[in-house]
Amino acid sequence: MRSVALLGPEGIGRLLFDQTKLFSSAEGWEPFLGLLFPRGLMLMDFEEHRLHRRALSVAFKAEPLKAYLAALNDGIAARLAQWRQGPREMLFYPAIKQLTLDLAATSFLGAALGPEVEAIKRAFIDMVAASVAFIRKPLPGTAMRRGVEGRALIVDYFSRQAPLRRERGGSDLFAQLCRATHEDGSLMTVREIADHMSFLMMAAHDTLTSSLSAFVHLLGAHPDWQERLRAEVVGLGLEPGEALPFERLDELRLTEMAFKEAMRLIPPVISLPRRATREFEFGGYRIPAGTRVNTSILFAHRMPEIWPEPERFDPLRFTEEAARGRHRFAYAPFGGGAHMCLGLNFAYMQAKCFAYHLLAGTGVSLAPGYRPPWQMVPIPKPRDGLRVTLDPRP
Ligand code: HEM
Repeated sequence: MRSVALLGPEGIGRLLFDQTKLFSSAEGWEPFLGLLFPRGLMLMDFEEHRLHRRALSVAFKAEPLKAYLAALNDGIAARLAQWRQGPREMLFYPAIKQLTLDLAATSFLGAALGPEVEAIKRAFIDMVAASVAFIRKPLPGTAMRRGVEGRALIVDYFSRQAPLRRERGGSDLFAQLCRATHEDGSLMTVREIADHMSFLMMAAHDTLTSSLSAFVHLLGAHPDWQERLRAEVVGLGLEPGEALPFERLDELRLTEMAFKEAMRLIPPVISLPRRATREFEFGGYRIPAGTRVNTSILFAHRMPEIWPEPERFDPLRFTEEAARGRHRFAYAPFGGGAHMCLGLNFAYMQAKCFAYHLLAGTGVSLAPGYRPPWQMVPIPKPRDGLRVTLDPRP
């Protein structure tokens, strides 16, 4: 398809912060996600989107996040203990992909998933794979067909479970959505819950897998920074294996800066698509109504006039002082405006929790001279799975 890119921070600002209903997110994302994740937040526009986003936002406030962090702490600590007992050399990407999926299963759906858990995870993997498959029709034998079948299974599961969860309650994300209400006080319908849940799992899964892989790659490639982060983590003074408390997340400042820098160099969502609802002008060009328009986050993150030596890993770009005076939209891994990532705090929390458990007891290194090859499209991933060595640290 033909698409026009509005580049640079001005392009990001124009596309994401428009207040005049000029750009449709639903029509921009439809070709990629429409068959598999219809009626997710990114596939809604304007007033309808605002109402649904408001209903969902209760599930991302501090109290619910605290409960998700408990599930993340348990799941991450247990998995790292397993990794430490396995071979020192491992492929990080498939391992973290599996871990983020398992963590989503517990923090999103609750521990009491029952025997259906494996079928649900499989269906979900098929849906995500289908959203980036080349053949866009669900023909027999294609990834898209498996994805569409996966969606049917997931919708069926959530639809059956939602009424039960409403009665039983719980602190996982699914339970939160089952209690969420629209502005008039009515509960969301079972179908709405099912659509939002599967969309949320998709939005969280590949993005966290990608960003945590970039983070670990860069910490392996920069042992000096890895030591600084380890000192920060150890400096919390927690007992070995103790959970990272929600109240102390803010103390991991260097960890947050390093994670931000990893997402600058390798943003999980490299480009954001929209469709123009009316004719408009940008940079002296007249762009007709109906045009597909996107902005490249990756491009803005590598502009040398904003980021000196853009290829260099330097978390200190994110000190308050360094950020002062930089263009507001020069850095946008979570997008911005009405559709800005709703899971941003969840993502920082999971990244910090992972860094805390990893660095407290383990060193990560790359073989000398090894430069992991990254494939940037559709979602960045290390082509060879990212070979790392894990060594226990006292
Ligand atoms: C490092 C991890 C993540 C990155 C880089 C990321 C990035 C993004 C971006 C760029 C958008 C905006 C898309 C657009 O404007 O077209 C977005 C939207 C969204 N993200 Fe994330 N995301 C991450 C993790 C998560 C997590 C963990 C969740 C849920 C727990 C989540 C839920 C959402 C939702 C619901 C939207 C749609 C918001 C709306 O349309 O109003 N994301 N994300």
